[in-house]
Amino acid sequence: MAKEKTLYTCTECGGTSAKWLGKCPHCGAWNTLVETVPEAAAGGRNRYGARPHQPLAGAAAAVTALADIEAADVARTPTGIEELDRVLGGGIVEGGVVLIGGDPGIGKSTLLLQALDALQRAQMDTLYVTGEESGAQVALRSRRLGIEGSQVQVLAEIQLEKILATLDALRPAVAVIDSIQTLYSDQLTSAPGSVAQVRECAAHLTRAAKSGGTAIVLVGHVTKEGALAGPRVLEHMVDTVLYFEGDTHSAYRLVRAIKNRFGAVNEIGVFAMTERGLRGVSNPSAIFLSQHAEPVPGSCVLVTLEGTRPLLVEIQALVDSGGPSPRRLSVGLERDRLAMLLAVLHRHAGVACADQDVFVNAVGGVRISEPAADLAVILAIASSLRAKPLPRGFVAFGEVGLAGEVRPAPRGQERLREAAKLGFSVAVVPRANAPKRPIEGLEIHPVERVEEAMDVVRRLQ
Ligand code: TYD
Ligand code: MG
Repeated sequence: MAKEKTLYTCTECGGTSAKWLGKCPHCGAWNTLVETVPEAAAGGRNRYGARPHQPLAGAAAAVTALADIEAADVARTPTGIEELDRVLGGGIVEGGVVLIGGDPGIGKSTLLLQALDALQRAQMDTLYVTGEESGAQVALRSRRLGIEGSQVQVLAEIQLEKILATLDALRPAVAVIDSIQTLYSDQLTSAPGSVAQVRECAAHLTRAAKSGGTAIVLVGHVTKEGALAGPRVLEHMVDTVLYFEGDTHSAYRLVRAIKNRFGAVNEIGVFAMTERGLRGVSNPSAIFLSQHAEPVPGSCVLVTLEGTRPLLVEIQALVDSGGPSPRRLSVGLERDRLAMLLAVLHRHAGVACADQDVFVNAVGGVRISEPAADLAVILAIASSLRAKPLPRGFVAFGEVGLAGEVRPAPRGQERLREAAKLGFSVAVVPRANAPKRPIEGLEIHPVERVEEAMDVVRRLQ
């Protein structure tokens, strides 16, 4: 088949051009032209199946009142890996598409091979499409994982059309594509991994999943900036988006649900990388604490809530005299939020860091997005600045507002009980989170304002 002429379409206005241009000739937007399959190659129809620029033919479709539609809950098949099922909302869904992203070497291929093997053992047909490694390399990994006798079907292929044909012929229950960035479609001339290819391949695979009833897991790489390489549009196409988090140097890995059409988001799965693959950690609350023999300045333990489970995470701060333009750096916490907290600290508690470098880190590579981390960040910074450690067994949580008020965090009692269970003995918490009855072994100091929290800490130090 003769290749159709290449066509470029603007992602802003939908206008087309026969040449790639830096600027869209129709709307003037920059860098928006991406390669698309020309209409003739797609059978004279656009990607939605309509013939453009022609009057619409066909009868109107019947519609139904919402109340008359039977609400059917989707059937989920557990993968047998408990922590993975937790983030998936119970298991994989027939015809569902999952995108799983993460840094290279974090354990995506390992986890998915383990999951496929467990599913295969549960009598489901599985297919592992590897575009990055050869079959021999996959076999080597499976030996390491102790699953060398596995019946998981392996296909080493990067051409989309061949993969689609194989999916159609085998109709497996679950297929993993490792990774979406290595695939290419014959219909496009751009290189694998380009925006156009990634989008085209993902769209076809999504359609194949829906029509064939195969659950498809797409593996995606993450760029240095932390975004999934390729267009964000991938996130919109799929049903579930999971991200791997964590430091590749530490043994622990988190898998977080960012989007889930079949379950709750912000649920996390916790794993430890072992000699024999990833192992679920069912009680993860204490894994993000570094062990100090004596309390050190600049360290404050935060009780955060991830999904349904409380986690204790050590927040570290280092405040050091800076140059003419002091730096603010944060790892695992939002930098804008850090700037805001420094302003609150200055304005309401009289603690000035204007001429200081401020570094903040959440231990263990965990990413914290909830505002309830604010109080712990502020206390860690003040502790580092004054070179005074917080008391032994100290925890804190609470959101801090611009007016200096300390706002309650959701499910405060649960957080406090978890801290007490792990042997923590002193807590500074928002007043609204103070429990009515005492918690054994935990001395609780409720506060309403930042300056009040600073006073409490000063008295305890
Ligand atoms: P991998 O699954 O290949 O990562 P990704 O697909 O996300 O790029 O994980 C590779 C890392 O995991 C590698 O550094 C080796 C380590 N590893 C173990 O520690 N134990 C194991 O059993 C396996 C298979 C890998
Ligand atoms: Mg891999």
